[in-house]
Amino acid sequence: MCGIVGYVGHQAAGPILIEGLQRLEYRGYDSSGIAVIDRDGVLDVMKREGKLRDLQAAITRMPNGGTGIGHTRWATHGQPSDRNAHPHASSSGDVIVVQNGIVENYRELRAELQERLDAEGRTWQSETDTEVIPELISREISAGKPLEDAIAYAIGRLRGANAIAVVHRGSPDRMYAARKGSAGGIVIGYGDGEMFLASDLPALLPHTTSVYHLEDGDIAAIDADLVQVRRGGSPTFQPTPTQVDLDPVAIARGPYRHFMLKEIHEQPRALSDTIRGRARLDPASALADDFDLADDTLRGIERVLVIGMGTSLHAAMIGRWWIEQIAGIPADFENASEFRFRAPLLGPSTLVVAVTQSGETIDTLGAMNHVRERWGAPQLVITNVDGSEATRQADASIIIRCGPEVGVASTKTFVGSLAALYLLACRIGHARGQLNEQELTDRLEQLLTAPSLLERGIRQAERCAEIAQVFGGASNFLVLGRGIEYPLAMEAALKCKEISYVHAEGYAAGEMKHGPIALLDQGFPVIALAPRGPLFDKMTSAIQQVRARRAPVIAVGDEGDQELAGLVDHFIGVPPAPPLLTPFSLTPVVQLLAYQLALTRGLDIDQPRNLAKTVTVE
Ligand code: G6P
Repeated sequence: MCGIVGYVGHQAAGPILIEGLQRLEYRGYDSSGIAVIDRDGVLDVMKREGKLRDLQAAITRMPNGGTGIGHTRWATHGQPSDRNAHPHASSSGDVIVVQNGIVENYRELRAELQERLDAEGRTWQSETDTEVIPELISREISAGKPLEDAIAYAIGRLRGANAIAVVHRGSPDRMYAARKGSAGGIVIGYGDGEMFLASDLPALLPHTTSVYHLEDGDIAAIDADLVQVRRGGSPTFQPTPTQVDLDPVAIARGPYRHFMLKEIHEQPRALSDTIRGRARLDPASALADDFDLADDTLRGIERVLVIGMGTSLHAAMIGRWWIEQIAGIPADFENASEFRFRAPLLGPSTLVVAVTQSGETIDTLGAMNHVRERWGAPQLVITNVDGSEATRQADASIIIRCGPEVGVASTKTFVGSLAALYLLACRIGHARGQLNEQELTDRLEQLLTAPSLLERGIRQAERCAEIAQVFGGASNFLVLGRGIEYPLAMEAALKCKEISYVHAEGYAAGEMKHGPIALLDQGFPVIALAPRGPLFDKMTSAIQQVRARRAPVIAVGDEGDQELAGLVDHFIGVPPAPPLLTPFSLTPVVQLLAYQLALTRGLDIDQPRNLAKTVTVE
């Protein structure tokens, strides 16, 4: 999703902006651009469709001005093109803006501004919603408003959630940043006689760990040595930056060919880090510290609703199982983008758990908002980003400790979210007396084996590569699972779609005969997730039905399961796991199969086309 960077200081802004944008590439984008302004107010705007290397190739002379803003765009209004790329200028050419988010009323604003453009014989330069912002600011400046007031006015006119950065020819030593709603974050990085700006921390980390996150409604005037923020009608203040603790080295790819592969391998560690100090034995406790929901609150809960999008939704589906089975309380899951437009019957005794690795997904934030405004039910967020918008909205957070995830397709954050959901189920179950000390100990002891289950699953990488070679040319896959493995079948199919661009459907095996079976023939491979467990026999029946249609079957089952291996064309063995822990043993294989398929197809695995890491638009 779109990324913003900015710089003001004693160095040349251009190379810093480009390097910052490189660090945001993982968010996914289709065009990019920078605007740099020098002391004399000479302004250079350079932008290109495509990858950053296309922009770099187009910059024949890097301007040496010390103030600038940059952007990676993910098209919403108007296709990816040079002219639709940000930054956008006012028709006067004085005001330059980059934006994350959507100006929902841009048509209305365009119509309002049209008269001015017509009178001056000018036209719109792009098809974007963003272009109205510099135009609005410029109009207000022409009418005599100071720049800052003009920006505040323009922001006030926008409907939707927006984060913007602005530079103006008349103020070459200053940039502005503003945030309205939750269109992703925007963070100021404090340097020594220089200031940095970015929509995401990774772009700032090589320069500084001293940061200020803009709050909803903030407008910041950023000079090389001073930041002044205005918020609503209150007097301007100088925010106090906080220190972030993120290791820039952790975001490098290391020896791995792709970040996704690296992050798959980091999963045992991510899981161990996430549960460290939160799964204690002797005496047993789950989430004892660092958790803001008291036992009294948990005892008052009658139902849990877990929401999320994409991979986080699949984690939510698995979490639902655990909460029902371990905590013994009714639980549901729902896609946040659907939930937020329903009027379900929640009450203050429903605990809403939002799963979101980024903490900035607009639909998940929208659903949380919906809950707060309508029912005031308690909300818990599970996220990898402390300080993200979701953590600000929620009553309590569980921060998973996965480290930065760069690959667009979520992997280690899925596992981290699962660990948090499992701990939550244990905590609720214990608080409500559903689990006694011994049962809690047993559950936690099982969770403590999960890093090793992941580790052994990852060892199947070679086997996954062999199978991907066989099926590299297939255009369709059906992935079957039952019970707690059904959400994993969905996740497997999602991963295939995301990074291999192959059509894949995740299905509950029992549902297969009600439609998908009509698709099956020799050219339609089926992946069956079939570890030994309560529904194993039902899975083998489904496999038999698939085989009767001559579709090739790849089964993922318990190591050494000769019976299953004998039944199918290809077999991948994973460590046997207790019934509720199979998501940990199967996840690496599901991810590695998709990864290897993408590899055989030579695709851009870390930045798949059309996708974004942080989806801040509807
Ligand atoms: C995007 C990402 C997915 C992620 C989904 C939800 O689509 O590409 O990997 O699962 O958003 O993101 P969240 O940050 O809410 O978990």
